[in-house]
Amino acid sequence: MGIVDELRPIFSPKSIAVIGASRSPTKLGFEVLQNILVNGYKGKVYPINPEAPEILGVAALPSVLAVKGDIDLAIIVVPAEFVPKVMTECAKKKVKGAIIITSGFAEIGERGRQLEAEVLNIARKGGMRVIGPNTLGYKDPIDNLDAAFVFGMPKPGEIALVSQSGALCVGMIYYANGEHIGLSRVISVGNKADVDDADLIDYLDRDDATKVIAMYIEGIKDGKKFLESARRCKKPIVVIKAGRTAAGSAAASTHTGSLSGSDVVYDSAFRQVHIQRAFEVGELFDFARALAYQPCTRGNRVGIVSNGGGAGIMTADWCESLGLEVPDLAKKTREALEPHLPPITTARNPLDVTGDARFHRYHVTGSIMLADPNIDALIMTCVHAGIARPREYVGAVIKLVEENKRLRKPIVACWVGGPEVDEVVQELRVKNIPVYPSAMRAARAVKCLYEEGRRLVGTGRGGHCRPV
Ligand code: COA
Repeated sequence: MGIVDELRPIFSPKSIAVIGASRSPTKLGFEVLQNILVNGYKGKVYPINPEAPEILGVAALPSVLAVKGDIDLAIIVVPAEFVPKVMTECAKKKVKGAIIITSGFAEIGERGRQLEAEVLNIARKGGMRVIGPNTLGYKDPIDNLDAAFVFGMPKPGEIALVSQSGALCVGMIYYANGEHIGLSRVISVGNKADVDDADLIDYLDRDDATKVIAMYIEGIKDGKKFLESARRCKKPIVVIKAGRTAAGSAAASTHTGSLSGSDVVYDSAFRQVHIQRAFEVGELFDFARALAYQPCTRGNRVGIVSNGGGAGIMTADWCESLGLEVPDLAKKTREALEPHLPPITTARNPLDVTGDARFHRYHVTGSIMLADPNIDALIMTCVHAGIARPREYVGAVIKLVEENKRLRKPIVACWVGGPEVDEVVQELRVKNIPVYPSAMRAARAVKCLYEEGRRLVGTGRGGHCRPV
């Protein structure tokens, strides 16, 4: 059986048993059941609780063994010491998959490791795949199934998020919501006793709703399996690998029972399989959004348009320091630009269209730069310089992106001006046009698109430029 068939009962269940569904609204077992019901899950739901006749208006049963129909997925929310017993019942009932939300396993030391091994053994014997233990569960905004204990569904989109930390996973969902970034599937993997990152890469690679896989990882148990999955994955993968330092690594071992391993080894392994490494949450989504919604670059030559000299210079610095080029423009491009520029500026890269530029100058110069054969990617920078027209520039960038579909060169925006421009750039975010608040973040996103282009060339997938 392939990974999609193995994990289908977990991620597309026809029936769910919530074992430890609670009558008390303050308990996680209540929240899990509530979230499933609130989002209008269409399959069968069985609250399992030996004490309660019904919970949230749904008839409860004392054990999965009392359920008449089949059960695809068991979500387990009983204290750790009862998990082997309920898992044994699940195996007997031939439940197909389980999510163990309960904590108190490998992350607490030797006693917990033994308990985790015991539970895994029961699952293997029963032919069940397991997510967790020590997990939040998952949220599926595409199929509208919330199998987690924290309230709230992410905005639907095309970036899958896999997180080893449950709490951070929730924080990342809120961050993505604030940035208008949509997610396809959000999966908290916890201790990864059974289903691990490699399984999820294989699964999400075959998921039509997902374009990019973004991951937060503390430790990888089977490095070979992970690298093989990453190598064969056709979609871009962006990873935050935490536990990079002695202090972080010690914290990871008590958080999810992970061995963080040598960061140098991880770094070189990621490079080998073209995984893009991000170092914090903002960067994970900077990269993921660029990869999901812009074509990758054919080469490393960046054109920069700004309405302020300083912003253009800083962007050029960041590009070069990351190994990107800021090349001279072709003669034909310079000649085409000149009639649109005021006498105080020069037709060069980075191009300063000056602070008094309006929609037309900002748009037409961007368009000419983009058509230059020496340019592979464009950064459109705006500094809110008082006289500048950020709203008009937003319109210009949107028009450029729409017109550029044929050229297949990436365009990212860089908007500097804090709260003064934040409301204006929402329009770019809503349209999934990457916009960054600093030259560094814009340049790093372009570098990421360049690396993706190299990955596709290196793996012989679709020439230089992945269609978006
Ligand atoms: N089968 C079914 N239900 C059972 C049961 C069994 N064998 N044994 C107990 N229950 C019921 C209880 O009666 C209770 O329902 P009630 O509140 O209506 O009486 C419910 O299951 C929960 O059991 P309880 O003993 O009250 O546990 P709890 O809710 O206090 O804690 C966990 C259970 C799983 C939440 C807790 O052990 C835990 O692990 N918390 C941390 C979870 C976490 O953070 N995970 C990682 C996130 S990233």
